[in-house]
Amino acid sequence: MKIAVTGKGGVGKTTLAGGLARLLAEEGYNVVAVDADPDANLASSLGIPEEEMEGVVPIADMKELIAERTDSKPGTFGTYFKMNPKVDDLPEALSKVHKGVRLLVMGTVKEGGGGCVCPESVMLKALLQHLLLARKDVVIMDMEAGLEHLGRGTAGAVDAMIVVIEPGMRSLQTANSIRRLAGDLKVRRVFVVLNKVQSPDEEELVRSRLDGMPYLGSISYNQNIRRADLEGTSPYDADPAFVEEIRRIKERLFQELGVEA
Ligand SMILES: Nc1ncnc2c1ncn2[C@@H]1O[C@H](COP(=O)(O)OP(=O)(O)OP(=O)(O)O)[C@@H](O)[C@H]1O
Ligand SMILES: [Mg+2]
Repeated sequence: MKIAVTGKGGVGKTTLAGGLARLLAEEGYNVVAVDADPDANLASSLGIPEEEMEGVVPIADMKELIAERTDSKPGTFGTYFKMNPKVDDLPEALSKVHKGVRLLVMGTVKEGGGGCVCPESVMLKALLQHLLLARKDVVIMDMEAGLEHLGRGTAGAVDAMIVVIEPGMRSLQTANSIRRLAGDLKVRRVFVVLNKVQSPDEEELVRSRLDGMPYLGSISYNQNIRRADLEGTSPYDADPAFVEEIRRIKERLFQELGVEA
């Protein structure tokens, strides 16, 4: 199963992606968590201590590896290089494993305007494609707001895109535009999770405005989640109430996708 977590800045994408990854690993799935945010912090949401991440370089920044695999010279542009670099060994070689979750920090490629085809982007795309199409693992991707950089072929392999929203109209508008984009990219299913809920009324109000987007559940506004983030620890280890909310979201997701739990 391949899940992409998206949404506006600061809504709780990393909190949800980390929580889901930890839960599914605990349930015995082989989980690969992909940090595809340039400002990578999925590690701390998974509970990986900062010391352990010291020296971890995002794959997009591994110049020598990219040069070797794509047969290019570092920093070159527009010259010949391989479009199908070998990547199948990389998830094992370059990941950190914590509590059963294999974390890959992808980084991002700053594209110069209209979709650059450079060795870095070819590498990342090949690796994502490998993870999404060739592997049986559960893959959970913590994305930036968009899915554009996945490309059409790859986005179609995502079983579920979860849009995280906060109570508020702006967040709902974002969810709608992400849904349209996902439709264009042929993502199969798009779901909503409501985060930072402060009261049942609030949840009801947002649900009534979802305009047909399937709803997986909510995560309460929770000081322990904030505190965990401040301390660089995982909310999953900090509060059983959060774990229970994640479990309900996961169960609803599996039901919707017709996966036997
Ligand atoms: N349910 C919650 N209750 C309280 N605080 C929360 C909750 N969910 C997330 N937060 C806090 O909100 C902030 C943003 O959360 P998070 O990093 O998960 O969002 P994000 O969408 O990944 O952000 P970014 O767009 O920067 O990647 C963090 O400080 C986090 O601890
Ligand atoms: Mg994030």
